[in-house]
Amino acid sequence: MQLLKLNKMEVGIYPGVEELAQRVSDEMIQQVIGKKSSVICLASGDTPKRAYEIFVQTIINQSVSLAEVLFVGLDEWLGIDQTNTGSCYSFFEERIVKPLGLPEDQFARFDALATDSREQCFAMDRLIESRGGIDLMIVGIGMNGHIGFNEPGSSWTSATHVVSLDETTQTVGQKYFQQKTEVSKGITLGLGQVMTSRKLILMASGERKAGIIQKTLQWPISEDLPATIVRRHPQSMVLLDRQAAGML
Ligand code: PGA
Repeated sequence: MQLLKLNKMEVGIYPGVEELAQRVSDEMIQQVIGKKSSVICLASGDTPKRAYEIFVQTIINQSVSLAEVLFVGLDEWLGIDQTNTGSCYSFFEERIVKPLGLPEDQFARFDALATDSREQCFAMDRLIESRGGIDLMIVGIGMNGHIGFNEPGSSWTSATHVVSLDETTQTVGQKYFQQKTEVSKGITLGLGQVMTSRKLILMASGERKAGIIQKTLQWPISEDLPATIVRRHPQSMVLLDRQAAGML
């Protein structure tokens, strides 16, 4: 592993996806062992899949109790049914909730079909607040530099909100669905919540992320590039495989 320091922020560069995933899982394990009532916000998407697999396996093998942990899903496609395999709900159901046998109420996710999506936002904000805030947040990065569905130009002080998705997000997002699916809106935790999480891990892998990672770490910090928030966060790290770090 190669370790760079950017101000105080750790940038870890791993030989491959497996080593990267192992490190992210280690951070998650450390969190749930260190604080039994941790609130952990997780991104869905392709990037963290392997990390979650290792995490689940480690929890099972080492019989770690998650009884007091609350998991929170970072975002969701509005209008997409929970049973759709492209939904973030289903992503977490298949990868974390079912394999760990977690009670449903220990993984807070959005109801993408709710008639009042603003109420969904408030409910999520209230839940997180009532649990004392987010201890650990694991996020990926979009090709346009988004975090969750906080698209370029999103306010850095926002709480949970409904978003009109960028064209890039709509196009790239098709990869999660088995057939062409209209996804024009999303619901997401806000960058205010990213900023106030006690620990933030941004992870990225693969050559196609190299350009946006280079911008995130080397271009000016700006709301136009939401992921640059990692450089303002007091306790953040960027964990990459060698390919995603290829332009640094
Ligand atoms: P990905 O998505 O992990 O599938 O690349 C990342 C994102 O859009 O935030």
